[in-house]
Parts: sequence; structure tokens; C-alpha cells
Amino acid sequence: MKVLLINGSRKDNGCTFTALNIIAEALKEGGIDSQIFNVGSRIFKGEIEAVVKEAAELIKTCDGLVVGSPVYYASPSGEVVSFLDRFFGIAEADLRYKPACAISTCRRAGNTACLDVLNKYFTYSQMPVVSSRYWNEVHGSTPEQVLQDAEGIQIMKILAKNLTWLIKSIEAGKKSGIEQPKFEEKIFTNFIR
Ligand SMILES: Cc1cc2nc3c(=O)[nH]c(=O)nc-3n(C[C@H](O)[C@H](O)[C@H](O)COP(=O)(O)O)c2cc1C
Repeated sequence: MKVLLINGSRKDNGCTFTALNIIAEALKEGGIDSQIFNVGSRIFKGEIEAVVKEAAELIKTCDGLVVGSPVYYASPSGEVVSFLDRFFGIAEADLRYKPACAISTCRRAGNTACLDVLNKYFTYSQMPVVSSRYWNEVHGSTPEQVLQDAEGIQIMKILAKNLTWLIKSIEAGKKSGIEQPKFEEKIFTNFIR
């Protein structure tokens, strides 16, 4: 069992990476593999088509998704939003029913607005959203500061444990014959027709 961890920061080894790494370690303790996939830096360089294609292949082999983003002006990074707009359009069938959660990192404020945007991709796509015991955020301008955020680190670890539990529960359910909900074609209207 494996989780795809999306790093939406332009920095491959910054605060978002540090938070995702805490999640990766906690997943490993629970017997779940993971892979951090750096999206933000590559989108910034103009590699959107290649990044989306690679992520769409990766998610086929994964049982869960974590999307991490720094807070930019109280929103997710523009890079991760560009990525998610394409990724969720292309890979929706492989995302559906897989547990997902978003995390954000910021210096001071704006995380809840950022998380609100990210969580909407999951709820649009029938992905069970995993929670922790507070909003999924760490604080800091540098990885060193993030590692001093004891509450944030605990939030990341609990999130990983809850994600592990849900992934394993879904797997156990499959083995005992509980079927996924039957897929229904979407009724797509502009409210009138
Ligand atoms: C363009 C830009 C906008 C930012 N906006 C905010 C903000 O609204 N609130 C905040 O607390 N921090 C803000 N920050 C700081 C980052 O969110 C914060 O340092 C984050 O932890 C960086 O994560 P990273 O190292 O993964 O890129 C901003 C940083 C940049 C570069």
C-alpha cells in the first residue's frame, strides 16, 4: 500500500517538504510506503504537461493522496492550483474513493483559506477526506522553524496515522466483499438544463 505526497512548493526541500517528510515517516511506521513528488518547482519551470502525466501514472499505483502547499497570499501556491486543475480533470477515475488530505505551511496566517481550496478537489471527486486533530498546518519560514512547531508535527503524525487506518480499513473491507459504490454518470447542468 502506497501514498502519493504532492509537494506544491517551488522549493523542493522547504517547509512543505519537511511537513510531508514527517507524514512519510509516520506512514512508514504504519507499514505504508509513500513517494514525495515535487510538483511546484517543475510547474514553475513550465513542465505542467509532463508533471500531470507522471502524476496520473503514479496515482494508479497508490491507495491515498496528500497534497501539500505553502500559503501564498492566503491561498495555495499558483503552481499547485495549476497542477490540480489539470490532474483532477485527467485522473479523476483513479482518484475516486481513495482517501486524501491536504496540508499547508505558512509563516503566520492564511492556512485555513488555503486548506479550504485544496479540500474542494477531494470532495468534488468522491475522495474520503482524512482529518487530524486540528487544521492540517505547520508554521515556519524555514524547515528548521517547522521542526520547532511541536503541535504542527503532532498534527502531521496523527494525520498520517488516521490515513493509514483508513487505507487499511478500505483494504480489509475489499477483502471481506464490501464493494465500492456503483459509479453513476454525472448529471452536468448549468442549474437549468
Ligand atoms: C509569494 C509568497 C506569499 C506568501 N504568503 C503568505 C501568507 O499569506 N501568509 C503567511 O503566513 N505566509 C506567507 N508566505 C510564507 C510561506 O507560506 C511560508 O514561508 C511557507 O512555510 C513556505 O513553504 P515552502 O518552504 O515549502 O515554500 C508567502 C511566501 C511567498 C513566497
